[in-house]
Amino acid sequence: MATELEEKVDVNWDDLTFSATPTKSIYLTTCKEDGQWKPGELIPYGDISISPAAGVLNYGQGLFEGMKAYRTSKGNIGIFRPSENAKRVNSGCRRLCMPEIPEELFWDAIRLVVKDNEEYIPPIGKGALYLRPLVFGSGPVLGVKPAPEYTFLIYVSPVGPYFKGAMSGIHLKVVENFHRAPQYGTGGVKAIGNYAGGMYPARLVKTEEFSEVVYLDAREEKYIEEVGAANFFLIKGDVLASPELDGSILPGIIRKSILHLAGTEFGYKVEERKVHVDEIFEGDEAFCSGTAAVITPIISMTYRDRKMIYCDGEVGKKTMELYDGLMQLLLEQRDDPYGWLETI
Ligand code: PLP
Ligand code: COI
Repeated sequence: MATELEEKVDVNWDDLTFSATPTKSIYLTTCKEDGQWKPGELIPYGDISISPAAGVLNYGQGLFEGMKAYRTSKGNIGIFRPSENAKRVNSGCRRLCMPEIPEELFWDAIRLVVKDNEEYIPPIGKGALYLRPLVFGSGPVLGVKPAPEYTFLIYVSPVGPYFKGAMSGIHLKVVENFHRAPQYGTGGVKAIGNYAGGMYPARLVKTEEFSEVVYLDAREEKYIEEVGAANFFLIKGDVLASPELDGSILPGIIRKSILHLAGTEFGYKVEERKVHVDEIFEGDEAFCSGTAAVITPIISMTYRDRKMIYCDGEVGKKTMELYDGLMQLLLEQRDDPYGWLETI
């Protein structure tokens, strides 16, 4: 029998994938180049019009964020560490010469759009409402310089797992000759332009039945950087290692949270350092993390002609312990001594 939620919106909660479903409304506001952001408004979900000379269309002056709203076991709507997203937006705005967004305005915008689209938040256990804030140069500009006007909008979509069959684990290929980001580029912020370049290597490895690409550092091609659009972790004994943030790796909020949980609650020695690609052949378990990916177990990693299979091809127990620890926080199934979950 259809639940009350299912009757309200036309979404099949049992079949959610990571794809865009139209919802009720979008949050939108604008700002002149040297101006202040005005509090925005909700507009009906749909296409927006934009100048053909917009900075974002011509020169990629834009960034995005990714957040999730979950229904929690206490009947609240929970959002994980939104002030971290607000800070990351602003570090991206500085790097891309866009006006920074006051944290208060960012959080008001999130609350407004989530409340208005509440019916699209999946029932507990079925997925989440993915929030996609975008900040971009919407004003016309022909020379390569900052646009005269900016738009901040947030659209939302109910989503399921980022990787197909995520919880049974994924198979990855370490690529050479394709890099995600150079050291002093924009890899450390969520610049829109960081992502299109990854589509071709991802397409290539998917034809070989891999789920995603693992990037090495652009300077020496020796050290693991990221798993497509997720951060990488390797477990060996009681050590949990993740590549250090050196400017080319996106400082993931789930990454930061896992490192904290692993060190304080799960007894790991946490190491943020360079992770040499050869180390993948010595690890006990590996996984990747992100808002979209949550914690996704890695079953195998292939580098050149060598393939490492973790835990005899099963999902790692230690990975699942960390997954459960994180999910319990996200779903208010345990105390949150860190004050990470904001409810609305
Ligand atoms: N790495 C990249 C390149 C990303 O785009 C993302 C997604 O935001 C992540 C890692 C994970 O970051 P977070 O945990 O903040 O979602
Ligand atoms: C996220 O995890 O939220 C991301 O932004 C990664 C990806 C969907 C691009």
